[in-house]
Amino acid sequence: MANDGNYIVYHGLLCPKETHSFESFKYAEEIKVEDEDIFTVTYPKSGTTWMQEIVPLVLNGGDLTPVQTIPNWDRVPWLEETRAALVLDRLPSPRAMVSHMPYHLMPPSFFPSKAKVIYVTRNPKDVMVSSFHFHKMASFLDDPGTFDEFLNKFLSGQVLFGKWTDHVKSWRNSDLGDRILYITYEEMVKDLRGVLERLSRFLGRDLSEETLDRVANHCCFSNMKLNAMSNYSLVPQEIMDSSKSTFLRKGVAGDWKNHFSPEQDSKFTAVLKEEMNGTNIKFPWDEE
Ligand code: A3P
Repeated sequence: MANDGNYIVYHGLLCPKETHSFESFKYAEEIKVEDEDIFTVTYPKSGTTWMQEIVPLVLNGGDLTPVQTIPNWDRVPWLEETRAALVLDRLPSPRAMVSHMPYHLMPPSFFPSKAKVIYVTRNPKDVMVSSFHFHKMASFLDDPGTFDEFLNKFLSGQVLFGKWTDHVKSWRNSDLGDRILYITYEEMVKDLRGVLERLSRFLGRDLSEETLDRVANHCCFSNMKLNAMSNYSLVPQEIMDSSKSTFLRKGVAGDWKNHFSPEQDSKFTAVLKEEMNGTNIKFPWDEE
């Protein structure tokens, strides 16, 4: 591990010092994963906050109390962040956590456990756009530079948690069998209700039609944007400046089309295609 300005470098991955420390990574490495634990794993800007809203509601049968009273970072904490050591012991069972770790960096006790994983993937072009705006509003991250400069950083993996392709490939090759459920952000945008049904089956919950409707309604973009426990408005302005961009920014699929030039699109597509070559992983956005 090393220091690099705003970041800690953990196994070659850049992670913000604001929320991570050497101790927090050690804590994550030593955690005793329980069979009932549920991890939502994402590459940053792929729908983590959305899942921090959804998973507790699916687990508790649609009781809105936790999502209306507990900030998302304590409700479903990040495994590798400093808050984990403070709140993990207080989580109800089954414990729900989020993580941006690639598969091989999960805690050793995760692998032999029966803990489940929900892995959310998002079109990397939209991930990059979302991250670009996030870097502008978050004072604890480096300035992204121009869009073109940030695109090059993204493609070379000089961004939070490294290359998108490495992250996705690590979890697609995870060998976790029925312990892992793959979801895309785009499916959630298109058919949240359908995703909730898949999720509740995966988590062994039998939710009524009425409950599924209530959860879907509560977790739509416009409602989450109003929820102070989830929209990051509790974070001081000097750390996250909502006048530059809001955390819940647009919440759509395909915003990259408003940002990429044809040349940037061709370059991005070519690099991703080359790096995903031979994996047999197909995504809904591949044909766009
Ligand atoms: P945009 O910046 O494209 O709007 P993460 O939580 O992993 O950091 O991801 C943040 C992205 O998820 C942001 O994307 C945010 O708006 C989007 N998001 C969060 N909640 C959402 C919801 N209920 N519906 C749609 N998108 C949501």
